[in-house]
Amino acid sequence: MRVALGSDHAGFKLKELIKEDLRAREVELTDFGTFCESSIDYPDISFPVVQAVRDGAFAFGILVCGTGIGMAIAANKYPGIRAALCSETYSARCAREHNDANVLTLGARVIGPGPALDIVRVFLKTPFAAGRHEERLEKIALLEKRLLPDYHRRCPAAKPGEAEA
Ligand code: RB5
Repeated sequence: MRVALGSDHAGFKLKELIKEDLRAREVELTDFGTFCESSIDYPDISFPVVQAVRDGAFAFGILVCGTGIGMAIAANKYPGIRAALCSETYSARCAREHNDANVLTLGARVIGPGPALDIVRVFLKTPFAAGRHEERLEKIALLEKRLLPDYHRRCPAAKPGEAEA
């Protein structure tokens, strides 16, 4: 499993902690920045991370900003990206089981480092439950195809679940 990691300045410290934790558990990852606490706009990090997930280079993306909201909004602009903002482990588990989320966003100013690491662990280890949830995701994918047919023709890997293959 490969993970793409990114944050803005507000999420930098938490992103570094997550990186350390993932490395200790031998999770293969790429850090897309930011690499210091100087101000940087969250879309500048979110877009390259979700593009890489969208392209299939990574199974999951993890994005951290102050609230997790900006990262989630930016990430979810991409067809095939299902980004979930989670502040506790129940949501993290459901985001994977029900929504087949391929991007986790976290708010470094909202939750502490301990809960954040637990959320990451639960998110990465929980499989998609498929079944009835598949049809629901298919409806979202169909809307994306209708709104952005050209984009889907160029990148046919936008079906739910495909990023995890
Ligand atoms: C940065 O101050 C802050 O706005 C950003 O990290 C994030 O919370 C936006 O959603």
